[in-house]
Amino acid sequence: MFSEKYDSLWINAHLVTMADTDEYGIIKDGAIAVRDGRILWVGPAKDVSPEVKLNADRVEDLAGTWMTPGLVDCHTHLVYAGNRSNEFEMRLKGADYQAIATAGGGITSTVRAVREASEEEIRQQSLPRLQAILADGVTTLEIKSGYGLDLENELKLLRVIKQLEAHTPARIVATFLGAHTVPPEYQGRPDDYVQLIITSILPEVVNRNLASAVDVFCETIGFNLEQTERIFQAARDKKLAIKLHAEQLSDSKGTVLAARYQALSADHLEYLDPEDVPALANGGCVAVLLPGAFYYLNETQKPPIQALRAAGVPMAVSTDANPGTSPVLSIRSMLNMACVLFGLTPAEALAGVTKHAAQALGLQDEVGTLAAGKVADFAVWDVSSPVDLAYQLGGNPLRFSVMGGRKYDPENCCTCD
Ligand code: NIG
Ligand code: FE
Repeated sequence: MFSEKYDSLWINAHLVTMADTDEYGIIKDGAIAVRDGRILWVGPAKDVSPEVKLNADRVEDLAGTWMTPGLVDCHTHLVYAGNRSNEFEMRLKGADYQAIATAGGGITSTVRAVREASEEEIRQQSLPRLQAILADGVTTLEIKSGYGLDLENELKLLRVIKQLEAHTPARIVATFLGAHTVPPEYQGRPDDYVQLIITSILPEVVNRNLASAVDVFCETIGFNLEQTERIFQAARDKKLAIKLHAEQLSDSKGTVLAARYQALSADHLEYLDPEDVPALANGGCVAVLLPGAFYYLNETQKPPIQALRAAGVPMAVSTDANPGTSPVLSIRSMLNMACVLFGLTPAEALAGVTKHAAQALGLQDEVGTLAAGKVADFAVWDVSSPVDLAYQLGGNPLRFSVMGGRKYDPENCCTCD
């Protein structure tokens, strides 16, 4: 046991550590000590000596609540301008997502809105979405570009992501998704657009240190395998991590390619052939499940959960927060949908928004479990068991979250001025 002075001791909580186990890793009546923003010690409260308690600068009594790792939302597109509720209505009247996209709506309609908006307007519109996500216990999230699709506007989106990052205690990871769709000025010339990404946009993104990963929408309405691979090669040359929107609407074999490039993750996967699951396992990729997009598109084809489980592929769960397929700002509702729609157990779903989501961002040594050495990011919940987090829709059982050892104050945070 340690006896040095440390910043804070959190006692009287049941800890859902998510560490070293396939299940919750619960420590009933636990305690957690924090120093310099990192977890110093985690264990049963009975093992905390009175002397150690005296050494704490601050002791927080959590009154029998439950503590999880801070949640990680590993796939979002929440920085954009405008709104596509009109397309939601069109789909309900019978139009389908791909037809709307082919007719110049979908992603392209958000691209128009982003190009017309100033950086400041995009930031003002995106901030409430970020705040809503954080209000659900998220302490780390990924945000993709992908609605600018030219040098000026992709950089504009990535700068907004950086500004949000600078003004919130949450950890934000930026991903460059220049290959989200072919922009109108390159219609019919997708290879030329891929070339523009590789020779012009990606190098600038890297020079300015605006993203740590690339992503591609590999799909019939996105980019084909060969185009995707060209972007992967450029990303690898620049030492960026790789992610992929794969098998969302058809089996394009993007997952096999992503695995070959040892991508951090392959995301969506509704149309993934179970026979390709071993490749994913061998590539060490996380399967990111996005039940919000499945739900909004009224999809019936489900990801091959049983095959993923059997192959031991880590499954993450995320909001996919975006204006088209998943206008979702609640990761807790994704816990529920991952269980009800995809058949994950509540423990698998919680692993999906903690340790597996951290792995999907390459941050598994930093966040995602309650363990000594990790960043002191946690969420404190008024629930009677961790199952409640997936069980209930609506309401907000989050008492508060802690980021880097400090309580997150929603009133006094995320103001970019
Ligand atoms: O993850 N599939 C591609 N990208 C997003 C949708 C973006 C949009 O419709 O604006 C997705 O579902
Ligand atoms: Fe997405």
